[in-house]
This record gives sequence, C-alpha cells and structure tokens, in this order.
Amino acid sequence: MKKQIDWLPILIQCRDNLKMQINPLLKTLNHPQPSLGIGAGGDPIKKVDLTAENAIVETLKEYGLSFTLISEESGIKKYGENPEENYVTADPIDGTTNLMRGIPFYASSIAVSTKPELNAVHTALVADLFHGVTYTAKKGEGAKRDNQKVTPSKKATLEDAVMGIDLNTYKAREVAPRLTNLIEKTKHIRHLGANALELCYVADGTTDAFIDIRGKLRTTDTAAAWLIINEAGAKITTPEGKPLSAKLDPKEKLTFIAAANQKIHKTILSLIKA
Ligand code: IPD
Ligand code: CA
Repeated sequence: MKKQIDWLPILIQCRDNLKMQINPLLKTLNHPQPSLGIGAGGDPIKKVDLTAENAIVETLKEYGLSFTLISEESGIKKYGENPEENYVTADPIDGTTNLMRGIPFYASSIAVSTKPELNAVHTALVADLFHGVTYTAKKGEGAKRDNQKVTPSKKATLEDAVMGIDLNTYKAREVAPRLTNLIEKTKHIRHLGANALELCYVADGTTDAFIDIRGKLRTTDTAAAWLIINEAGAKITTPEGKPLSAKLDPKEKLTFIAAANQKIHKTILSLIKA
C-alpha cells in the first residue's frame, strides 16, 4: 500500500535548508556572477537559483522520498524508485532580479501533487525569504500565513482597492491596451516583482487582486500560490472567467485574474478587453 506522507513539515525543512544555503551568497551579490546557462523555464540561471534548487532536492532525498521534480531551473528530473508517486513543482527563487538587486521581495515556491497537473496540487508552500513569512496550504484545510488561517479582503470596489498588475513584458503594445479600462478605474496599482508572493498577498488580504495576462508566467511560479489562493477562499480564473487548468511543466505558461472576492473579480473581468 502507498504510504501517506505528511508533506508540510518536509516543505518547511526544504525552506530552512534553502535559507541556510543561500545565506552566504546574499553577501556576494555585487561580485561578478558566473554564467550558468539558461534554465528550463527560459531565463538565465544564477548561482542562487541553483543553490536553492539543490537545497530542495537534497532535503527531499534526505527523507528518502521518490518524486519527480518539475523545476524552473533543471526542468523535469526523477528521483527514487517510484518517481511517479509524487510531483514536486518548484520555483526555487521567485523574484531573482529583486534578490540580485537588493530589493527585499523574493520567495521560494514549492507545490506537491499526485499528477503533473495544477488541479492535482494538494500541498503548497510559498516562503517570503526576506521577511521570514511563510504561506502554506493543504487541500481542504484552508491557507495559513505563519500557521494562522488567512482570509482574503472584502473590498468590492476598484476605487479603494490595491491591485497588482504584471506588465513586465516585451509585448506591452498587445497587452497594455487590454488593461486600459481597468487601469483607468483603479487608483492603487502595484507590481512587486515576485508573482508567487503577490498571489499570496491576495490570499491574506494584503492586496485585493493580482493580474497577469501576459502569457509569460510559468506554471512553476504559480502552482503553490494557486492552492493557497483557492484554500484562502479567493478566486483565480483565466481572463475569461474559466477555472485555471494547466500542465505542470517549466515550459507551460498561464494567464490569470486573481481576486479577493466574487464581486471585485466580476468587476475586473468586465473591464478587461478580450
Ligand atoms: C519572475 C517574477 C516576476 C515576473 C516574471 C517572473 P523569476 O519570476 O515572478 O514578478 O514578472 O515574469 O519570471 O524569474 O524571478 O522566478
Ligand atoms: Ca525563479
């Protein structure tokens, strides 16, 4: 019989090991950085990304687990005797540019699923590595921030909402006009530079919505926060209002509207051009 694994303490251990291992590197960010090639997700790899990924893998191996790793850096790799039993989808560092430039907003994102599909994610962790805050979720058990249950905001209008919009793209001429009506009606717009963490901010009511319709964000960045948002009771859909569904793969991209509640979600959808 397949043994039941209590994943959350393991993910917490991954976070702690990762923090310990990247710590010395944070002191050398102004040194010349070696060229390490392009990661499976398509971005240049930094030493800190690889170190973080190694720390996650090392921890999972210490627990003697069989798993398939789906990571932004190394791509898809199998470990142990039955790697199809567990899928671990990781963005070891989300917000690498922030980290490299000393902007205090970057995270680590790890999701566990039974299949390589977003909808099969059952356990998730997003750790804000600078502020030492950790978001977790288990399917059917709610979402937590440092072990306290979180709930999204009840703000229903755009006038006083704080909304994240990722416009970080070379395709601004295509993407930006679709958002003009929404931007015009929203007073407080932000983009903080680590999308997994920005989604968690919607889950715990720090912000009221987060939107990424660029078609550029990988499922590795989104998998853990997807469960955290859903378990918190917020909404995350496609820009057309459909449930999100995606393959977990470093090359697979997503677009989404995440919003604190049904009402603000509906308003946002009505203002986005197809
Ligand atoms: C990046 C961040 C950023 C988003 C980029 C992502 P990374 O993640 O989430 O906010 O605009 O598209 O690539 O590359 O640092 O893991
Ligand atoms: Ca990354």
